Amino acid sequence: MVSTKDIDSLHKQEESAFDLSAYLAEKQAQVEAALERAIPVTYPEKIYDAMRYSLLAGGKRLRPILCLASCELAGGTPEMAMPTACALEMVHTMSLIHDDLPAMDNDDYRRGKLTNHKVYGEDIAILAGDGLLTYAFEFIAANTKNVPAERVVRAIAQLARAFGPAGVVGGQVVDLEWEGKPDVPVETLNFIHTHKTGALLEACVVCGALLAGAPALDLQRLSSYAKKIGLAFQIVDDILDITATTEKLGKTAGKDLQAQKATYPSLWGLEESRRQASLLIDAAKAELDPFGQKAQPLRSLADFITNRSH
Ligand code: IPE
Ligand code: IPE
Ligand code: MG
Ligand code: MG
Ligand code: MG
Repeated sequence: MVSTKDIDSLHKQEESAFDLSAYLAEKQAQVEAALERAIPVTYPEKIYDAMRYSLLAGGKRLRPILCLASCELAGGTPEMAMPTACALEMVHTMSLIHDDLPAMDNDDYRRGKLTNHKVYGEDIAILAGDGLLTYAFEFIAANTKNVPAERVVRAIAQLARAFGPAGVVGGQVVDLEWEGKPDVPVETLNFIHTHKTGALLEACVVCGALLAGAPALDLQRLSSYAKKIGLAFQIVDDILDITATTEKLGKTAGKDLQAQKATYPSLWGLEESRRQASLLIDAAKAELDPFGQKAQPLRSLADFITNRSH
């Protein structure tokens, strides 16, 4: 009989054997190349330039990598998921452009560069966001090959729901609503974080597996893993806003305190926030137990969320 302890120690061995830096470097290079090709510049050049400015400004590319990793876990090929992986990064980048606008978080720096509206003006920044959001869906529909149409439609629906009023958009609304107000209830803070950030991360993992044809039970497990890493991701973002430098983050540090944002550190302090993030990551990894060794990339990606420096 194999005990939980045996499984734990087996996972530890596998984890130490897995080279996450090499994995990230390989996937990041594939994603960068695909994104570079994804949006050719044509007339009116200004809008394509603005879209490309933010999309190709770097970034960890965590969302597309999660999508590719999840597709692979479910037995799919990278080609099946790459258009959706690129679309996820387009939609994410759009959320950053709009999040940085003066009407929202009013940020001057993103991904180590001036924000989109600082370079192109608010009018074009709004339109660059609109362009990226809509083009993302066109991109999935037009470029996904060797996947049954029914799965593609499901992936599109999943992404649309994750980004819309039931997801990122809804979360951003409540984030703004609570700006400048003290004593946010923990349920509200959870709503903000699971929606503005968690929903899209969940879509990344679910879409990857969905495109590969994963059965419902696997999708449920992966969705549960992703919800947990999604919340942990935003808790860590809130922590880094306090502990990291602007240079390291590539965006202005200390913004949350200045804008009196509802964050985990403001509610619980840094240490408890770190503890909660780490508990969530452990719980997320536990969801992957039934997948055994093939879930190693997703396990290591979960650790990356708490260990990251930016
Ligand atoms: C920043 O996301 C926005 C949040 C949801 C906190 P990332 O930290 O993934 O930003 P990039 O993509 O690496 O720039
Ligand atoms: C934003 O959360 C989540 C998005 C949907 C972009 P934050 O406002 O904390 O993200 P940063 O810190 O500006 O990247
Ligand atoms: Mg914000
Ligand atoms: Mg912001
Ligand atoms: Mg933040």
